[in-house]
Amino acid sequence: MVQKHSGVDKSRFHILIVDDEEPIQKLLKRTLNSQGFQTRTASNGKQALTYLKEESFDIVISDIAMPGISGIELTKKILSAYSADVILMTGMISQYHYDEIIGIGASDFIQKPFTTEEIILRTNRVIRERCLKEEQIHMHNQLAQAQKLESIGQLSAGIAHEINTPIQYISDNTFFLKDVISDLNLLMEKFLHLFKAAKMGSIDAVMLEQMETALDKTDLEYIQKEIPQAIDQAIEGIDRIKDIIQAMKVFSHPGQKEHVPIDLNQCLQTAITISKNEWKNTADLSVNLDPALPQVVCNPGEMNQVFLNLLVNAGHAISQKVASQTGDKGNIRISTTSTQGWVEIKISDTGTGIPEAIKTQIFDPFFTTKDLGKGTGQGLAISRSIVEERHQGKIKMETREGKGTTFIILLPLGKI
Ligand SMILES: Nc1ncnc2c1ncn2[C@@H]1O[C@H](COP(=O)(O)OP(=O)(O)OP(=O)(O)O)[C@@H](O)[C@H]1O
Ligand SMILES: [Mg+2]
Repeated sequence: MVQKHSGVDKSRFHILIVDDEEPIQKLLKRTLNSQGFQTRTASNGKQALTYLKEESFDIVISDIAMPGISGIELTKKILSAYSADVILMTGMISQYHYDEIIGIGASDFIQKPFTTEEIILRTNRVIRERCLKEEQIHMHNQLAQAQKLESIGQLSAGIAHEINTPIQYISDNTFFLKDVISDLNLLMEKFLHLFKAAKMGSIDAVMLEQMETALDKTDLEYIQKEIPQAIDQAIEGIDRIKDIIQAMKVFSHPGQKEHVPIDLNQCLQTAITISKNEWKNTADLSVNLDPALPQVVCNPGEMNQVFLNLLVNAGHAISQKVASQTGDKGNIRISTTSTQGWVEIKISDTGTGIPEAIKTQIFDPFFTTKDLGKGTGQGLAISRSIVEERHQGKIKMETREGKGTTFIILLPLGKI
């Protein structure tokens, strides 16, 4: 029978019971099975580790004092390699203190002899916490995905415009080539005619004059100069479109869950391509990327999203300042460097700066000073969570009102 407790389907939770005493194994198994949990029993730490390799468990309930690997050692091994929670049990009350056991990372501690009610109560509590964590991760992923789609949605008009410009000159140049090729075809026909006549030794003055007129009309010198340029420009336009589409693909790719070694300079270039329309009219861009930047183990989709958020924010801050002061264009500066154990990415703008009064709020979810449709206040909240929670990095901000803002991202080198 599948037991449900406050909406949780307990049969999806696997519990590994580890105890060298068979009666305890049996008692725990019976108790937990009666609650709907799936269980497996192991008589020692070694066997438990073998089972953990074979199958995924949500909770391991283990005795501490066992022959061979102790419950404490087993807990450390489990927590370093698996996502299971550990509940430890012991009869030796004086030897182990609650704080010490929780300190090594166990989720709970049960003293023997225990009652079945206590086992049920504590297991349910750990399950509730796991569900809560799962829910939080799910919400984070959903929010991050929604925000990613939203930024692409907001930027799509700009991206369409970015694609339109090269398409325009590819189209103009192709029509130009069509025209000149038809002129050249006519010229070629006349040359063939002349060639045939020359072979037969029958060229006359009229034919030569007609040829000369045709040559004058065609303006060969101009055509010879323009054709390669038109082709080069068309190729350049196609390359530009290819870059934009490539960048969009990176963004719309269903979030890769894995952390992989990536070139953050490349990642920044992608974000620059996608966000260009948001700043190119009001800001010049200067990029100073360290060519020797080591690869960093990151989730590429998430890091792209962070850079895009920061670039769009920089663009907005500069547009706002330029609009209010009818001043010159602003500047966005992007740089990367690596220092001991960290990679540093700086994105600076000469925009409005952030007023003292809201400095502490900008990372709060849904905090925005922008009009409806321009911002929802999620960019920095998501960016901070991506950098600090998902990549164990740091995101810092320095600002001077009226002068500009710099966001600094530090990502740890080495394994995440
Ligand atoms: N570079 C910047 N210069 C000045 N103010 C900034 C800058 N970046 C962020 N802010 C301020 O922080 C607020 C929150 O930024 P955040 O990116 O989280 O949200 P948003 O840009 O308003 O909306 P969204 O990113 O969801 O489209 C902004 O509304 C703005 O007031
Ligand atoms: Mg933003």
